[in-house]
Amino acid sequence: MSAGAAASGQLAAVPEQFAAAPEQLAAARELVAAAGWLVLFTGAGVSAESGIATFREAQTGLWSRFDAQALATEEGFRKDPELVWGWYAHRRRLAQQAQPNAAHLAAAQYEARGGRISVITQNVDGLHRRAGSGDVLELHGSLLRARCVDCATPAHDGWQDDPGARVPCRRCGAPLRPDVVWFGEALSETALQRAGQLARGGELMLVVGTSALVYPAAGLPLAAHEAGVPLIVINPEPTPLDALAQHCLRARAGEALPVLLAELPRR
Ligand code: OAD
Repeated sequence: MSAGAAASGQLAAVPEQFAAAPEQLAAARELVAAAGWLVLFTGAGVSAESGIATFREAQTGLWSRFDAQALATEEGFRKDPELVWGWYAHRRRLAQQAQPNAAHLAAAQYEARGGRISVITQNVDGLHRRAGSGDVLELHGSLLRARCVDCATPAHDGWQDDPGARVPCRRCGAPLRPDVVWFGEALSETALQRAGQLARGGELMLVVGTSALVYPAAGLPLAAHEAGVPLIVINPEPTPLDALAQHCLRARAGEALPVLLAELPRR
């Protein structure tokens, strides 16, 4: 269905692959319709239909083609900042050229129509915000920001115009680095606490496009489940969370979310 159909409140057309499991889709829609506060937990798969590579899929995943140790650790950055900045500038350009897809838009339009939906994303591409979602927690940072490698001061305005981000930190003079979480680094304590509150406080969690293998982020659906919040998993492939979920929709995000979020809660 088109994004416009969701915005106008028309009933979304049901994609073909759901025809095999109409009861399951209907039950998932019921659960969504009964929840007054949705939490949408997303991973790289939600941006796949925007043309952005995921991380762990064989052949196409970034970590099967690039060396995470060299490109996504502070040690790698200190060894060869130009190499790391080259890769992140390239990924930033790809993210800026990409367009939000039907999944991002469905979430944003649900909120625009008055639905309560909090997005917790592991993605660094900024597409949920560009689609128009207002309540977005970017757990792993953003490709669109930079900060000092030593004192964490946010980068000066205009840093994006210098592809190597060679202008040093305005506070301490150390190099700027991408403001994303690298391997071996802790997530922001504030962001993690807020994410935990959202996970436990929502009425339903939609887990979309994540392999659910990277912690602590992957602990959020578990925390939701332990707090009695039902889960719906949307992923073409099995995930470790499937056994805990009320419903697993083996579908692409851009097909399933517009259907699930087509209507606002009834109450
Ligand atoms: P992964 O690459 O681990 O998993 C992507 C998931 O998306 C897989 O389970 C796919 O089956 C699924 N998928 C692919 N296409 C899809 C589609 N169209 N619709 C729905 N699902 C689809 O990515 P993440 O789980 O996001 O961390 O990885 C978590 C973290 O690991 C990332 O945030 C990143 C990475 O290292 C940092 O960069 C800090």
